[in-house]
Amino acid sequence: MTEPSVIAVGTPQSFRQTLARSLEVESEEVGWVQSATSAEELLVAGREPIDVLVLSPELKEPDALGLAEFVGRVAPATAIIMVRDHTWNGLLPAAMRAGIRDVVDMTQGSEELRDAVERAIQWAANLRSLQVQTADRPTLRGSIFSVFSSKGGAGKTFLTTNLATAIAEISGRDTAVVDLDVDMGDVFTYFGLEPAHQLQDLIELGEGAEHDRVMQTAVRLGEHLYGFGAVPDPAAQVPAGEVVGKFLRTLRNSFSYVVVDASADYTDLALACFDLSDAVCLVTGLDVVGVKHLSKALETLLSIGLPREKFRVVLNRADSKVGLDSTDVERVMKIQVDAMIPSSRLVPMSLNKGRPVYLDEPQSDVSTAIRHLAKRFIGAAEAEDAAVAFNGSKPTKKKRGLFARS
Ligand SMILES: Nc1ncnc2c1ncn2[C@@H]1O[C@H](COP(=O)(O)OP(=O)(O)OP(=O)(O)O)[C@@H](O)[C@H]1O
Ligand SMILES: [Mg+2]
Repeated sequence: MTEPSVIAVGTPQSFRQTLARSLEVESEEVGWVQSATSAEELLVAGREPIDVLVLSPELKEPDALGLAEFVGRVAPATAIIMVRDHTWNGLLPAAMRAGIRDVVDMTQGSEELRDAVERAIQWAANLRSLQVQTADRPTLRGSIFSVFSSKGGAGKTFLTTNLATAIAEISGRDTAVVDLDVDMGDVFTYFGLEPAHQLQDLIELGEGAEHDRVMQTAVRLGEHLYGFGAVPDPAAQVPAGEVVGKFLRTLRNSFSYVVVDASADYTDLALACFDLSDAVCLVTGLDVVGVKHLSKALETLLSIGLPREKFRVVLNRADSKVGLDSTDVERVMKIQVDAMIPSSRLVPMSLNKGRPVYLDEPQSDVSTAIRHLAKRFIGAAEAEDAAVAFNGSKPTKKKRGLFARS
């Protein structure tokens, strides 16, 4: 029999140690992922069965309940235990209805948690001996690339729209461009269009919507290129991260490539998007404030458990004569710059025309830089596809199964 697998879910990373201490095991014997969305990814990957997910007190309740719903459908032999560090306000009935096996109050000491985990392991083992569960695997699993900058106006939307356009053109495969900048999204403006749907229409697609249904909420933006975005509505309730994760996974089942304009803050939306992204472009202009912002953003994102190899640094307007160059940036940020996109008046001109510069001026330096970046992304995705064909699963950096994020 294999060792029981117990995964701590949610920040801070020290929750893993807390859990391991209460179970009286070494922390390496407990897995850890930073969010509900990452836990769902682990279950979708389905490399090894997971006995118990133990949810950190910091995991928000909507995310916990959404994860429980997902587990009930995709991995019903996995138990969920919720840890709280305060008394719950009516949470218990909702948790039980969602299929959460236990809610443990940490303030009562660690014994209660250990007992709950032991009971859950036993329950999972019994269930597994009765049935072999296999989750439905989608036939297509596209790659998700997101574009982020913690400072406004750095060129996030410009890069998202042109990168998506280039990826669709070069690969000849269906590509989605998604506006997650729900307050001030302007992805569609770069194509001379306006979004027609409400945020709720997109979110309601949820998990596993049929391809036809997905396409009903898409706006055709060009050859092989489809846009997903909502009319800005300040009154709309911002969806939970876990819900956005389900939406993005649905898009990934319908499109070979999904390129996302993530919001400029560390919203739950943006974090769920990073969890699912195969690569995250961090964009900055060449000014000291912008570079410092980016350096801080990278530090923050690494501190919540995102792996460093996910990030690509893109310098926008990189030829500006402003006294900073890429070596200064590499020195401050201590990481390599992956792409440099020159400044060009063609960018605002194309925005005013409502046509991506990549299509309008394909021979320009700006388009050439974007083409290089797009080819690298497509190349990396194709290498992964080849590995899937060969091994049957996406490769992980560390071959340690469940503990890949450790
Ligand atoms: N390489 C470039 N050369 C010239 N102008 C550029 C370049 N990149 C972006 N711009 C211009 O800078 C402005 C801001 O770009 P963009 O809309 O992409 O920023 P953003 O990061 O999405 O901003 P926000 O935070 O408001 O969403 C736009 O007017 C765009 O035309
Ligand atoms: Mg923008």
